[in-house]
Amino acid sequence: MKPIQVGLLGIGTVGSGTFNVLARNQQEIKRRAGRGIEITMVADLDVARAQGIVGTGVKVVSDARAVIANPEIDIVIELIGGYGIAKQLVMEAIAAGKHVVTANKALLAVHGTEIFAAAQARGVMVMFEAAVAGGIPIIKALREGLTANRIEWVAGIINGTTNFILSEMRDKGLDFATVLQQAQKLGYAEADPTFDIEGVDAAHKVTLMSAIAFGIPVQFAKAHVEGISKLAAADIKYAEQLGYRIKLLGIAKRRHANPAKKLSEGIELRVHPSLVPNKRLIANVEGAMNAVMVHGDAVGTTLYYGKGAGSEPTASAVIADLVDITRLHMADAAQRVPHLAFQPHTFDQALSDLPILPMGEVVTSYYLRLNVADEAGVLAKVTGILAEAHISIDAVLQREADEVGGEGATSTDLIILTHDCLEAKMNAALAQMQALPTVLAPIVRIRKEELA
Ligand code: HSE
Repeated sequence: MKPIQVGLLGIGTVGSGTFNVLARNQQEIKRRAGRGIEITMVADLDVARAQGIVGTGVKVVSDARAVIANPEIDIVIELIGGYGIAKQLVMEAIAAGKHVVTANKALLAVHGTEIFAAAQARGVMVMFEAAVAGGIPIIKALREGLTANRIEWVAGIINGTTNFILSEMRDKGLDFATVLQQAQKLGYAEADPTFDIEGVDAAHKVTLMSAIAFGIPVQFAKAHVEGISKLAAADIKYAEQLGYRIKLLGIAKRRHANPAKKLSEGIELRVHPSLVPNKRLIANVEGAMNAVMVHGDAVGTTLYYGKGAGSEPTASAVIADLVDITRLHMADAAQRVPHLAFQPHTFDQALSDLPILPMGEVVTSYYLRLNVADEAGVLAKVTGILAEAHISIDAVLQREADEVGGEGATSTDLIILTHDCLEAKMNAALAQMQALPTVLAPIVRIRKEELA
């Protein structure tokens, strides 16, 4: 049978990895797919560079629309990125009846509902394994391997740049700005690192996982997004002393209604630095590596680990999608794995309208660092406010003032770990504590996840 024909839009790091791995492993891939898979056309603005990568046997053009218009092309791989032209091209490829493979998490997290609906209507597949955690087959695991389960939560280190920075801060005791500069020099962080360090990239990815885990629409706009740029080296050190590591986690969690505690049913969707017990495997994921934990009611807790970025790891995910499409494209569209794991058509199985809970309704535990005057009664006042709010304390750590502020210091750090409580309650208690004259600096609050 004639090989399936693939057109590639954008041949950068991932595109060239895809081309190389497909060429290197073509026999293996053909035996798995049941048919050859060939990139026969590439669109890239730098035609000469692209032609240099793919050789003379592949047609290279500067106009992506020429690829979409080519009737020989069965699958379009979009590796341009962003929401602008990439969105137009994906929609045009779908309209032209092409299957689409993309690594574009931003595009799908923001416009996924529209894109998947268009693909559904046209009977084509839009595959995106490479969009979340690079080479880790987490989309496949959530959508297929764990399909028997009611997923309770997903929590992942899904941004390598920030995990690298946090690892370096912990290892070397350096502050955020110094490590970011080093990461940029080493090529781990982009020249404009905003999406990574402010948690946006992780939020795109966890938004996609939330949709697949719970059968809800993709709702990036409702995700709580907080990055690592304000993290202080001191908090990483104190967390360590208490048996925790700080990780930037993307969390999607099903919350069951609890009328006694006035808790409504919904989904927590949030990205923020989190203390994680250092005995959890995920706390020991260091450097630029990624890892995702998924808890299902039948399987229990599972963990997926690997490279979340890079040329060939991401190509591995792109090609897995190409193989899936090759195997399934002749099948009746209704028999294929649904884009977001749940069948969108059947009324009683339609996408769920479970709400994304506002942050005030999230339940979690906390690490608090208060810089306080080292005088009588301070601890009592602070713990009194927490007691009044029914927030239970799990642990307290206080260092001698000299140790924190140097010889003769009159203030010190008071570290408090709490048990679970409603975020709105914690916000109110924090405001009261902050107003105490003996609390000398803005209180640091970092959420804590036991991931048990
Ligand atoms: N910039 C991402 C990261 C990789 O640092 O993990 C692509 O999603």
